[in-house]
Amino acid sequence: MSTTKLTTHHGMVDLLPEDTEKWNYIESVIKDVARRYHFQEIRTPIMEPTELIARGVGQLTDIVSKEMFAFNRGDDQYVLRPEGTAPVARAFIQHHMAQRGGVQRLFYIGPFFRAERPQKGRQRQFHQFGAELIGAKGAIADAEIIAFMMEVYRRFGIENIKLKVNSVGNPSSRAAYKKALYEYFVPLQDQLSDISRNRLESNPMRILDSKEEQDQPLKEKAPRITDYLEKESRDHYEEVQQHLKQLGIPFETDPFLVRGLDYYTETAFELISPDLGSQDALGGGGRYDLLIEEIGGAPAPAVGFACGMERLLIVLEALNIELPSAEPPDVYFVTRGAPAAKWALETMPGLRSKGLVCTMDYSGRSIKAQMKDANRQQARYAIIAGEQELEEQIFTFRDMSESTEKKAAMADIISEICQK
Ligand code: HAM
Repeated sequence: MSTTKLTTHHGMVDLLPEDTEKWNYIESVIKDVARRYHFQEIRTPIMEPTELIARGVGQLTDIVSKEMFAFNRGDDQYVLRPEGTAPVARAFIQHHMAQRGGVQRLFYIGPFFRAERPQKGRQRQFHQFGAELIGAKGAIADAEIIAFMMEVYRRFGIENIKLKVNSVGNPSSRAAYKKALYEYFVPLQDQLSDISRNRLESNPMRILDSKEEQDQPLKEKAPRITDYLEKESRDHYEEVQQHLKQLGIPFETDPFLVRGLDYYTETAFELISPDLGSQDALGGGGRYDLLIEEIGGAPAPAVGFACGMERLLIVLEALNIELPSAEPPDVYFVTRGAPAAKWALETMPGLRSKGLVCTMDYSGRSIKAQMKDANRQQARYAIIAGEQELEEQIFTFRDMSESTEKKAAMADIISEICQK
């Protein structure tokens, strides 16, 4: 037998009970915001056809070229989904959701996978919550999606965040812009970082995304996309900003904001937190009016966002924002002897059916050890039973927080617990 310790892969994290309590709470808040915005949940498979992600997200993106967990099985190519937008778009087409009429308002929470180099706030399995609004062209939809995203952080009391917005225009304005960028950077290529020099030919817009020190001064004087937008794009962008102002959502325009996924058109945005360190994006999104057509559907304009759950938790922790912790048991049954343990086992379902949280000792430990355990678990009450109590049907009922005790019949104990 091998003695190697089996642990998770690098960048993949277990969520232990103390974590899942928090996660469940956070998810319940997100679901409540989604409900109020009238978005409905969609759950797509964890694995998708590799071609969907390659075509949807873009062959030249880091996600597709370097970070996919992909494998073949028989003739099929599978990829662990690295993001949620292309899968939701696929589901929209596959299930003819356009025929349902109106706009589809869909949200999701779940695991995603990218083979990135793990560091704080960057994992190989991470979780996103996100929303996609499909079938609406107007700037109101963009504002609504951004408002939804911001509302989640407001609900947690997170205020020190920065929303950056930009427009990446339509394909023809983007082509003109790329050409201008290329022409600007070519004479400077010797001064660019290696990463950016490599991007010059394939996708010069990604140079703007560079975090390399030496690229920063070169970026400053680079042409700005906003000078290349066609009238329709300019108007749309202007209108999004107006709506955000009306909604009281603070934002900054950032003409150099480019996103690492190829499907964006028009609006692009990112939410940044100074409490995150180098991986400072809490979330991001934008419009993707051409994606659905590109992966085989009838044209449908759409806009969406996705945010990292782990990064939300990092910020909550940094700001010392307390989340509700595990619910302690209402009743801990402390038993002496096998008949009393059996009685407790058979009595607990009745209490649970009244909504009470019950537990007991399962290993016949001493009364002292059981009381210690009840204390450790912060039980509200202990019901202590041995042979004599069973015979008399009168039990010791202890209020753990007040350290008081009395003898009572079960019916009286239950009604007292339920009243409090
Ligand atoms: P994204 O910017 O690639 O966008 O990811 C959104 C968020 O997911 C990031 O801002 C970050 O918080 C989190 N995230 C991404 N990668 C990791 C990682 N390796 N570890 C931890 N957190 C991570 C999208 O995924 C688009 N689908 C967003 C969208 C939806 N656009 C339109 N609709």
